[in-house]
Amino acid sequence: MERLRVAVIGMGTMGLSHALVYKHLAETELVGMVETDDRRRREAEQQFGAPCFASVDELLSEAHPQAASVCLPDGLHVEPSVALAAAGVHLLVEKPLATTLEGCDAIIAAAKSANVKLMTGFTLRFDPRYWLLHESVRGGQVGQVVYMYARRNNVLASPRRLGGRVGLPFFLQVHDIDAMRWIGGVEVKRVFAFSARKVLTDLGVDDVVVSSLQFHDGSIGCVESNWILPDSLPAGRDFQLEVVGTTGKG
Ligand SMILES: NC(=O)c1ccc[n+]([C@@H]2O[C@H](COP(=O)([O-])OP(=O)(O)OC[C@H]3O[C@@H](n4cnc5c(N)ncnc54)[C@H](O)[C@@H]3O)[C@@H](O)[C@H]2O)c1
Repeated sequence: MERLRVAVIGMGTMGLSHALVYKHLAETELVGMVETDDRRRREAEQQFGAPCFASVDELLSEAHPQAASVCLPDGLHVEPSVALAAAGVHLLVEKPLATTLEGCDAIIAAAKSANVKLMTGFTLRFDPRYWLLHESVRGGQVGQVVYMYARRNNVLASPRRLGGRVGLPFFLQVHDIDAMRWIGGVEVKRVFAFSARKVLTDLGVDDVVVSSLQFHDGSIGCVESNWILPDSLPAGRDFQLEVVGTTGKG
């Protein structure tokens, strides 16, 4: 079997995890990585036995990948994704696709014009619990969706690691908003949100955000996320998604 030649861009927490999977999948060959931090670049080469370059240009000219995971900080997805797509490389871009609508549009346009596949790393779509809920709701088992409630709360270590570079809507709420669009099958029409700051004041980010969503079919959703739970919480997170329909609940 010919293996897909895959690269990973950004060898931080998520990049390491993508590379580990590509290294072990029978269908993929990890042909290269990109990382600007010298120490991380050396460590990645040692760990995965593949070259780690300092730029996407070097990766493209030396390793010729067919597909790539973009695992850079949220605000840095656009330029490398556009360059990779233009070079004919299929893309898995970590969530959020970009932090502006213009950035998202640029990546989508580059992928369309180069005719490459583009996917955002919305992991809940591959979580069996969320998949089963999707199957039962889309299969009509709760009737028409009336209301959805999602909770996604993390321990304090999470915002402390990120050091204020990203807020709750892009880090946590994107997952549940995407899950609601996917499971409900309808786009969001209006959003209204409240937030509070009492703990993470030094980082300049919200402790908690509660968003109310109204969908185009008249159904509504509530997404609650905080990241101020004590680090002693054994699971490190607390999450839930509930769907209430005209004939049942999932
Ligand atoms: N799907 C999920 O559940 C999930 C979970 C966590 C994070 N994420 C997303 O994954 C992405 C990466 O997050 P992370 O936590 O791994 O970040 P991270 O900070 O741990 O890693 C980012 C890496 O990119 C490197 N880097 C920065 N600029 C670079 C550049 N121009 N070229 C090459 N390398 C560069 C950094 O040195 C660092 O090693 C983010 O978009 C984040 O939102 C997704």
